Amino acid sequence: MHKNLSEILITKEQIEKKVKELAFNITRDYQGKDIFFIGVLKGSFLFISELVKNIKLETNIDFMMISSYEGRQSSGMVRILLDLKQPIDGKDVIIVEDIVDTGLTINYLMKTLKTRKPRSIEVCTLLNKPSCRKINVNLKYIGFNIPDKFVVGYGLDYKEYYRNLPYIGVLRDEAI
Ligand code: IMP
Ligand code: MG
Repeated sequence: MHKNLSEILITKEQIEKKVKELAFNITRDYQGKDIFFIGVLKGSFLFISELVKNIKLETNIDFMMISSYEGRQSSGMVRILLDLKQPIDGKDVIIVEDIVDTGLTINYLMKTLKTRKPRSIEVCTLLNKPSCRKINVNLKYIGFNIPDKFVVGYGLDYKEYYRNLPYIGVLRDEAI
């Protein structure tokens, strides 16, 4: 375990098993359709790559980058830093997120993308912190519900570090 962590919350093996399960459920639910995956950078880069490898349907994959957090506090401000390269009108879209915390980021993204008239739009998030929610959002696919702790690893960062860890861990207070 990395020295700046107090515990491993979710192991590499647990993540791999869960991602396969999510991909299985998505494949089942989208039979007969092509899926347009949108990865929200940077946090979802490992999750989306593992997820799409296990999808047994035709897929498009595109990315967006949005600013949400600076450090540990949600500012409530969301800005598109990188937009999609392709239109999504008439597409069945799944937004792939690393974590939904207050819900402000995903709520803003959903609202923005709905104006582009996709046929359907759903969210697949690896992690969910339900106790931190400030706005109600509908999350169709959730990997793990976790307590209100600041976590890093498997794509999630603290000040751009720890994204490469193959597991999800809780950052020590002293490391913040
Ligand atoms: P929300 O707008 O509060 O739902 O925040 C979502 C974004 O905040 C995520 O995409 C992450 O980038 C970041 N975030 C929220 N909680 C954590 C955490 O525990 N660790 C790392 N990043 C987090
Ligand atoms: Mg982040």
